[in-house]
Amino acid sequence: MEQLILDSKTWLLVLTGAGVSAESGVPTFRGMDGLWENHPIEDVASPQGFVKDPALVWRFYSQRRAAASAVHPNPGHDALVAWERHLGDRFLMATQNVDGLHRRAGSQRVVEMHGTLFKTRCSKCKRTPFDDTTAYPEGTVPTCGDCGGKLRPHIVWFGEYLDPADMQRIEDFALRGSTSGGRFVFLAAGTSGAVYPAAGIVDRVSEAGGETWLVNLDPPQNASSFDHHVTGKSGEVLPKLAKRV
Ligand code: APR
Repeated sequence: MEQLILDSKTWLLVLTGAGVSAESGVPTFRGMDGLWENHPIEDVASPQGFVKDPALVWRFYSQRRAAASAVHPNPGHDALVAWERHLGDRFLMATQNVDGLHRRAGSQRVVEMHGTLFKTRCSKCKRTPFDDTTAYPEGTVPTCGDCGGKLRPHIVWFGEYLDPADMQRIEDFALRGSTSGGRFVFLAAGTSGAVYPAAGIVDRVSEAGGETWLVNLDPPQNASSFDHHVTGKSGEVLPKLAKRV
């Protein structure tokens, strides 16, 4: 296997997708028995779906919240924690995953681009999203104690914008990494490259002269954009891929 050298000149931006959590038992979205096979996206992961049937949306997210609470990080998550500890502020991870497993593994420099299953916010007033591990009973739609509005999962749904502050943090890091005089590396793991803006990061890094790596079980849509490809399970590849010097 090719080795990814992580030394004192390396700046590393990592992007993870559902494939990194697959070995923990969390279903991915696309592919055999993926989440979108059994749940029409527009019904359970869109603002329109929430307006139409909020109880159905809460059933979907309560099930995912309970399932994610019951599983554990895998060696792929652990490897990313070790890389972060080795590189310090020259490491940043952007995850599309909302299962909370990176944080449970110990990752701290992580941007949850698509939100998290473990926060809830009000769909009506601007109260700050709050920590919430409740798997609400079937048919329940929790309401806001401040305004009485319907509460919703703190998840970025299809058709919604990502948090500009999150995107700015990723941009700022990429700019610092690509102008540091060191070696700027982007590694994507366990993602199909189907959803933007996450899927477009690789092209931005390449344009800036960065080195790009892909770790995936099978070739994603944007595979041709990467300099290095390592095919395999992230839980097996990531612990062996990096040489920390
Ligand atoms: N190791 C590495 N890669 C894996 C593994 C594994 N053990 N298992 C599956 N994969 C790969 C699959 O080959 C696929 O390319 O992970 C990818 C998962 O793709 P998706 O299911 O599309 O998940 P993701 O890329 O994270 O989806 C992006 O789309 O639905 C939205 O918001 C949702 O964040 C999600 C976004």
